[in-house]
Amino acid sequence: MTMSGNRTVMDRIEELKDRGTLPYEDLKALLGPLTGEESEALYAAAREVRESIFGKDVYLRGLIEISNWCRNDCYYCGIRRSNKNAQRYRLDKEQILDCCDKGYALGFRTFVLQGGEDPWYTDERICDLASSIRSAHPDCALTLSLGEKSRESYKAYFDAGAQRYLLRQETSSPAHYRFLHPEPLTIENRKRCLYDLKDIGYQVGCGIMLHSPGQTDDNILEDLYWMKEFEPHMVGIGPFISHKDTPFKDEASGGLDQTLRVLAILRLMLPKVLLPATTALGTIHPRGRELGILAGANVVMPNLSPAGVRKKYMLYDGKICTGDEAAECRRCMEARIRSVGYEVKVSRGDYPGWTREQ
Ligand code: 5AD
Ligand code: FES
Repeated sequence: MTMSGNRTVMDRIEELKDRGTLPYEDLKALLGPLTGEESEALYAAAREVRESIFGKDVYLRGLIEISNWCRNDCYYCGIRRSNKNAQRYRLDKEQILDCCDKGYALGFRTFVLQGGEDPWYTDERICDLASSIRSAHPDCALTLSLGEKSRESYKAYFDAGAQRYLLRQETSSPAHYRFLHPEPLTIENRKRCLYDLKDIGYQVGCGIMLHSPGQTDDNILEDLYWMKEFEPHMVGIGPFISHKDTPFKDEASGGLDQTLRVLAILRLMLPKVLLPATTALGTIHPRGRELGILAGANVVMPNLSPAGVRKKYMLYDGKICTGDEAAECRRCMEARIRSVGYEVKVSRGDYPGWTREQ
């Protein structure tokens, strides 16, 4: 058993479960490395907390990748502006509504529209999409994940019917943020967006990439404490995976074990949070998403994008589920979740206790 001072890892797991936080050095110790037995204790604590709130339910989100045009040039991302090898596409309204209809028939009750920061998608077009999807499927939730916008734009989308917004901060540390993103992007504006979204009344998802180039354990701790204070409704966490046409092409991808530890730690720090077992986690290990569920995750986001465009939304090399039809992906996901003793729940899957209704 790993000892540091006179406290064992097991003591720290107990304290994190009881208090939802830990002093700096104690939290740092949980980032690892841990023995097999210690890791299993951490995952078991996360499952216990998760099951006390959500039981065995896993929520589905249908991800529709609406455009891979992007005005930004993030060094890690395969659809960055400077990647001349990316074949660009954008879905039109009819194609997106068609994805939602197919998804609805497959039991999806949340649609996530995700895309690069594509100026063709003006506020007017986004609002029109949001209101059209909400009127076609009034019992479904609509999530947007379209990057940094002004407060006024976020408010307009909300008034048009979007109830949730995903925007990962990627890293909370200003210096590390600058290392991953060229100007004009700044961590200050990123956080401004997240606070605006919350203030407007969205259920908000933030999140980070793990093991992105230059990331240290101290950066991860800054992320954990920042998220504890921000209290997001969702947290998207996945390992960094290199993409061959980016400046980070030769950088090592993130590992499975630390990703699982961070998922479990987040479950203990933010018990009610909606925590996806991400596609990136499924990409670095054949059972990555199942292991994510066993470490406290409670959401999966199968792809509903038309099969013809999936390979073009290549954020990183080797991305899984790019050759499948929505129905296959849905079935495959259900089998994976069952295999670890959990159940897909056909439900909007709002944040526990969420009452604001539009
Ligand atoms: N590896 C892993 N995740 C990535 N993302 C973008 N590029 C990569 C990469 N190379 C993630 C970012 C973004 C989300 C949509 O995809 O965290 O927020
Ligand atoms: Fe997409 Fe298995 S979850 S094919």
